Amino acid sequence: EQSVGIRGRILSFVRAPNGAGDEGSYVYLRDGMLVIRDGRVEAIGPASELEGTLPSGAPVTRYEHELIVPGFIDTHIHFPQTQVIASYGAQLLDWLTRYTFVEEQKYSDPGHCSRGATFFLDELLRNGTTTAVAYGSVHPQSVDAFFAESEKRGTCMVAGKVMMNRNAPPALTDTAETSYADSKALIERWHKRGRQRYCVTPRFAITSTQEQLEAAGALLREFPDVYMQTHLSENLDEIAYVLSLFPDAKNYTDVYDKVGLLGPRSFFGHCIHLAEEELQRLADSRSVAVFCPTSNLFIGSGLFDLANTADAKRPVRIGLGTDVGGGTSYSMLQTAAEAYKVMQLKGQNLPPISAFYMMTRGNAEALSMGAEIGSLEIGCFADFVVLDSKATPAMLHRMETIEDLIEEELFVLMTLGDDRAVRATYVQGQKVHDRQNSS
Ligand code: GUN
Ligand code: FE
Repeated sequence: EQSVGIRGRILSFVRAPNGAGDEGSYVYLRDGMLVIRDGRVEAIGPASELEGTLPSGAPVTRYEHELIVPGFIDTHIHFPQTQVIASYGAQLLDWLTRYTFVEEQKYSDPGHCSRGATFFLDELLRNGTTTAVAYGSVHPQSVDAFFAESEKRGTCMVAGKVMMNRNAPPALTDTAETSYADSKALIERWHKRGRQRYCVTPRFAITSTQEQLEAAGALLREFPDVYMQTHLSENLDEIAYVLSLFPDAKNYTDVYDKVGLLGPRSFFGHCIHLAEEELQRLADSRSVAVFCPTSNLFIGSGLFDLANTADAKRPVRIGLGTDVGGGTSYSMLQTAAEAYKVMQLKGQNLPPISAFYMMTRGNAEALSMGAEIGSLEIGCFADFVVLDSKATPAMLHRMETIEDLIEEELFVLMTLGDDRAVRATYVQGQKVHDRQNSS
C-alpha cells in the first residue's frame, strides 16, 4: 500500500525506551506531518522534513487550524446502556434495578444487539474514541455483535460478556458453569482475532456467587493474556451489601483478591471508598483503578481521590473512563472536564497535558498497549482524532485570547469541547468519521 500524508498541528506523547516515561514528555509540532502506511505510522515530524520523503503523487490531507492527537481511549463503558444514559432519580443499587437491569434484558435479541452495537460504535467514533474497554450484557450474542461491528471498522476493542448469577432478574442471570463456558467460547472466537481483545467480566461482587468469581479466576489462569474488568467500591450501600454477602472477606477488594482477579490486566471501575490496605493490594498487584468522574457525580457515588490513589509511596495505576450509561457523556473531553472539577473539590490539580495524557497514552499504558495505541510514534496504529478548538461560538470567542499556547488550547478543548470539537476521526489511517458529512 502506498504511503499517505496528514499535515497539520500534531500533539503526541513520547514513549521512553523502557516503556516508562511520564506525562510531561509530549511532542508538539506546529506544522507537522504524519506519514501513514498499511494502517500504521511510518514517520512523524516537521512537514518541512517529511514532505520530500513522500513518493511523488502521494496524497496529503491538510488540516489548517485543527489539532491532531492520538485517538481517545475509554477504559470503562457499558455497551448495552445507550438507552440508560440520563436516567434520573436514583443511586447505584436503585439505578441498576429501576433502569439498567430492565434495559439490558433487550439484548437477548440479536437484532437489538446489532442495532445497539452500530449506534454505540458510531457514537464512540463521533466523539473521537477509537478504543474502549466495554461491558456487554449477560448474553454472549451482545459481545458477538459488538466485536463484529468493531472488526468492520478496524478498531481495537476490549470487551466481555457480563457474568452475573444472583441478585438480578432471572432473565439476566447465567450460572457459574454457563458463564464459564460462554466466556471461554467467546475468548476462543474473538480474543486476538485482529484487533479484538477479550475481557473476563464479572459484573461486581453483589451479582456473583463465590463459585462464579472462582470461575472468572479460572478463566484468567487458563488464558493469561485476556483482560478482567469489574466494579469496586463505588457506593457505600454497595460496599455494606458486599461485606454481608462475603463475611469471610477482609474487605471488598479481598473478595476479588481471594479468587485471583487482581493483576496487571485487571480494571476496577470507580475505587472511590477504598481503605489503605486495599489500595496497597491494588498497587502490589499492578491492578488498574478506573476514574469515572461523570458517573461518580451523576449517580452520586463520591469523589475519587486521584492523588491518594496514585500516591508515589504505593502508586495504583489509573485509568479514565466514561462509564456510560451511569456516566453522562461519551466524550472523553467532557470526562476530562469533570475529572478536573472533581479534583478541584479535592484540592488537587489536573493540568491539561495530564488530562490529555490520561485519555490517550495513559489509558494505552494501563492496557499494556503503549507500543500500539495512545501515541503517534513510528509503528503505532494510525488511530487519531482531528480536534477543532474553534468548533462553537464560545470556543471561538475564548480562543481569540489565546495565542499559540498549547496548554491553554487543550484546556479550552476539554472544558468547552465535546463531539462538536471532533472534526474527524481516523482508524488505521482511514477516515471513519467526518463532522462535515454527518448530522
Ligand atoms: N455496578 C454494577 N453494575 C454497574 C453498572 O452497570 N454501572 C455502574 N456504574 N456500576 C455498576
Ligand atoms: Fe460501570
